[in-house]
Amino acid sequence: MAAPRILLLESIHSVADELLEAEGFLVERMDASLKEDGLCARLPGVQVLGIRSKTQVSRKVLDAADSLIAVGAFCIGTNQVALEHATLRGVAVFNAPFSNTRSVAEMVLAEIVVLSRHLGDRASEMHQGVWRKVATGSREVRGKTLGVVGYGHIGSQVSILAEDLGMRVVFHDIAAKLPLGNSRPLKTLDLLLEESDFVTLHVPETPQTRLLIGAAQLSRMKKGACLINASRGTVVDLDALAQALRDGRLDGAAIDVYPDEPEVSSAKGFKTPLQGLPNVIMTPHIGGSTLEAQEAIGREVSATLSRFFRTGATVGSVNFPPVDLPQTPGTWRVINVHHNVPGVLRDLNRIISDHDANIHAEVLSTHAAIGYVMMDLDSNVADEVVAHMRRLPSTISARTVLSAPGSTSDG
Ligand code: NAI
Repeated sequence: MAAPRILLLESIHSVADELLEAEGFLVERMDASLKEDGLCARLPGVQVLGIRSKTQVSRKVLDAADSLIAVGAFCIGTNQVALEHATLRGVAVFNAPFSNTRSVAEMVLAEIVVLSRHLGDRASEMHQGVWRKVATGSREVRGKTLGVVGYGHIGSQVSILAEDLGMRVVFHDIAAKLPLGNSRPLKTLDLLLEESDFVTLHVPETPQTRLLIGAAQLSRMKKGACLINASRGTVVDLDALAQALRDGRLDGAAIDVYPDEPEVSSAKGFKTPLQGLPNVIMTPHIGGSTLEAQEAIGREVSATLSRFFRTGATVGSVNFPPVDLPQTPGTWRVINVHHNVPGVLRDLNRIISDHDANIHAEVLSTHAAIGYVMMDLDSNVADEVVAHMRRLPSTISARTVLSAPGSTSDG
């Protein structure tokens, strides 16, 4: 049986090649991304596609892929993939949501110190030959209060690191969260804004977090406080922030994300209302961009993809229901992806009994439009069962998996 093919685009970290080749994949790689037509031409025969944020996996691309069972987004976001269509084509999409958590947290911590000491302004002055040895407005962060909005993976890491620096930490989250270290949860955002010397935002982009920080919230912040946003650009009203900085209400801000970000990694002429204001650190969405994070992403996504390929486990997929089942030796595994309509399990079970097989173990999970079944049979009729399943109108795809890649058939 030919080795399964995986196409890696956009200079994915080379650790991915090593791990995937060790799992028996035939790895084809390109440094660039491919445009729609180029990708359509490359995909036939490819079982797994690895991309980063630039490659658009459109409906047309998915329709052109005759053997694709998974897309690995070696990044955090999956907006570049037509997710609903992928689901209906039986293509599982995976990403790496936590591999750059620590990188963002470290940058935020650095920014707290840089803002507190006005280091950005002093550094730019020195580049222009200006020696300005002042202590005015320059403070230690020890003993100051950090308000963390969104106490998820990044927010809670920031909390721990900030306490190590001697800061007091309060946080606000819409979900109940275990306070780490000596941090204190606060019931409302307003309470947090009123109490914090530094406010750092770590919420996802949702309708509720859109313009979470506008003029009203900025006016609640302590005079001389600083705002940090390394979450999503839509969370802060940048015009209102610029005004609060000009009014001297806030002492500084560090912004990594913007409502309209260039799609390319290098762009000139970028504009924000914050340009030219003192004690404002602006960075081009690089919070998670470190060598360590790139390698961690390479490892995490490769591992999830090969696991999905070898065992059918969907845990970590953004569009498939989470299914995992340890396989008993001496059983033959069949995977079925189907339209989420009544009666499918009855049809699948009938096919099994028509082949005089017993089901040793079975899991079904549904997710919006699709259902995902993993079943282990106690006799070697998996290929025949899969062929039969593919004839059902409800079936989107069916395949067998064995413990090593190279034994999969997709349909
Ligand atoms: P997460 O999902 O682990 O945590 C988000 C937290 O925010 C959750 O605890 C959630 O309950 C909470 N939350 C949601 N809505 C809220 C609201 N209205 N008010 C208060 N809390 C709310 O996410 P994670 O991994 O910590 O990421 C946080 C943000 O950081 C995301 O927006 C992500 O896109 C962004 N990010 C930015 C990067 C960069 O390069 N600047 C890199 C990685 C992530």
